[in-house]
Amino acid sequence: MDKHNAFAPAGLVEALQAAERVTVLTGAGISAESGLPTFRDPMTGLWEKYRPEDLATPQAFRRNPRLVWEWYTWRRKLVEQAAPNAGHRALVTIEQHISEFTLITQNVDSLHQQAGSQRVIELHGNIRRTKCFDENVVVENREESAEVPPRCPRCGGLLRPDVVWFGEQLPEQAFHTAVEAAVHADIFFAIGTSGTVEPAASLARVAQRFGATVVILNLDVEPLEAPPLYHINGRAGIVLPALVRAAWPE
Ligand code: APR
Repeated sequence: MDKHNAFAPAGLVEALQAAERVTVLTGAGISAESGLPTFRDPMTGLWEKYRPEDLATPQAFRRNPRLVWEWYTWRRKLVEQAAPNAGHRALVTIEQHISEFTLITQNVDSLHQQAGSQRVIELHGNIRRTKCFDENVVVENREESAEVPPRCPRCGGLLRPDVVWFGEQLPEQAFHTAVEAAVHADIFFAIGTSGTVEPAASLARVAQRFGATVVILNLDVEPLEAPPLYHINGRAGIVLPALVRAAWPE
């Protein structure tokens, strides 16, 4: 193995081999290679004139519930056609080698769970789940309905996707667990996230403040190897498997 592989810096490989606690935060970038558009990509087709900030809010839903529901229906169909990629699978392998591994995701696409990740903290909910807008309670196995959006079988209120919208609180337990995992991490990876949406974006700084080795993996970072800080410029689906091969050769 080339000792100075840009995707697997020697210092990071050694740290990974020695690590007890590894915490990973993923964003839309890790699902990009599964064909799912990221948020900072311009939207396509009939959604190109909208920005997520205009649709993923309670105000937008109150103003035009049909439009917001149909945007999520479009995204859910994309998610249902997507499959985990080599980046998701590499994180499953890392989890198998690390005694305390925590995967925190901002993604709502279930691809980490589909890849086999065991401990997934969904900070922003999950597009496959639906909840009542009025009661804020998840609705399971609802009947298909011609009404758009469909209505809550209990109270008749409008149904919405169980995802966190701009301006809404994150699930409290999930965020508390995420902060704890950042504080106690030996190594903290931030993978495929633009780090523009709080409070998820602050987790890397928390980890750094508590002495973790921090790895930022993205397409838009300048490469940096300054232990305990690493910036790796590359695609998650290429870099993560390279790191796994370097740390744990077959
Ligand atoms: N490998 C690694 N990084 C990638 C790849 C890839 N193949 N493709 C894209 N990226 C990077 C982009 O450079 C960008 O920095 O992934 C990042 C995706 O950023 P965003 O689209 O902002 O997605 P994310 O950071 O997850 O957004 C956070 O914002 O819209 C809200 O709630 C939504 O959870 C989302 C949150």
